[in-house]
Amino acid sequence: MKYIEDIDVFNKNVILRLDLNVTIKEGKILDDTKIKKSIPTIEYLLTHDANILIMSHLGKIKNEEDKKNNSLKIVSDALSVLMEFPINFIPETRGDKLKNAFSNRISMMENTRFEDYPNKLESGCDKELAKYWASCADVFVNDAFGTTHRKHASNYGLAELLPSAYGFLVAEELNGLSPLIKDIKKPFSVIMGGAKVDDKIALIEELLKECDYLLVGGGIANTFLIASGYEIGSSLYSSEFVSTVQKFLELYPTKILLPLDVIATSAKGTNQYSVESIPNDAFIYDIGPRTIANYKEVLTNSKTIFLNGTMGKYEEPEYRNGTEELYKVLANLDSIIIAGGGDALASVNKLGYQNAFSFLSTGGGASLEYLATKELASFVREK
Ligand code: 3PG
Repeated sequence: MKYIEDIDVFNKNVILRLDLNVTIKEGKILDDTKIKKSIPTIEYLLTHDANILIMSHLGKIKNEEDKKNNSLKIVSDALSVLMEFPINFIPETRGDKLKNAFSNRISMMENTRFEDYPNKLESGCDKELAKYWASCADVFVNDAFGTTHRKHASNYGLAELLPSAYGFLVAEELNGLSPLIKDIKKPFSVIMGGAKVDDKIALIEELLKECDYLLVGGGIANTFLIASGYEIGSSLYSSEFVSTVQKFLELYPTKILLPLDVIATSAKGTNQYSVESIPNDAFIYDIGPRTIANYKEVLTNSKTIFLNGTMGKYEEPEYRNGTEELYKVLANLDSIIIAGGGDALASVNKLGYQNAFSFLSTGGGASLEYLATKELASFVREK
């Protein structure tokens, strides 16, 4: 595997793939960690007199409306402010402006996934699209760790066509995640939260083989609770994965820990309920105090902990307790504690618990996939 220092970038036209897929609400970037962590590679390229064309995806593009809501322009402006350096934003993914990108020191192309509507060319790793983009540049540098579990035209596709290397963030990430890959110190606990189980189901299956405990929270716990026979009121769950989760529960009855109680909101307001008595009209938004105490006991005895997603809707103070209390527990442990993903990162930064972690990964799906498979889909093996 080659890194940026192993290839010649001097005076070259370089396509730099970054993961600038940040959460934007009401026109504001909620957490700019991914943007900041991209800067060392950009600076290295600038000091080597390279001209840079930055590519990234943002969100998922399934229709014209998604295009309106997922322009990278706001990210381009934010990076320009952080670097105190002008960035030429190209509002297209093809055309003359793109071909002329390298007449500027730094350009940023519009969202690569604009090529996903209508034909999924970016996500489908379309060869012609990759060829078109590759024809603009001399060298490809991939520093988009958060997208390394995807085989897109703008990562895998370009790496097949141009002299390529990985950037400093990829190196930092692989190093930071290494305690989870080899000789894992046991007991090893995985805290799994977040909105939906869908994307994570195959990876959970792999992680269950490796970990000693899987502590479930957030929206994904709803599917686990249904699979265990509980009523979850009006809360959302993924019906198509209930039988798979049932199999996990049968195979690993003592490994998987579920909420014992929850914080849910119904017509009667926001209350704590045991999982045996959640009202029909209630929506679950956090784990409850008995669950926190139970998880605390397991975590206190763990030597390695990996966290993905949050325990509840932490953005709203009334549903923050589960996420914050677990961070307080982690802050008092000497274990190896690693978190991955946009929501985990944003919540840790917002609540101020950075010091509780040995390493914070910018990749959610990417770190999970790396843990589960020890490989990353976008990595092109040396030929
Ligand atoms: C992330 O934020 O996890 C990465 O940017 C990947 O995003 P994706 O799940 O939309 O591919």
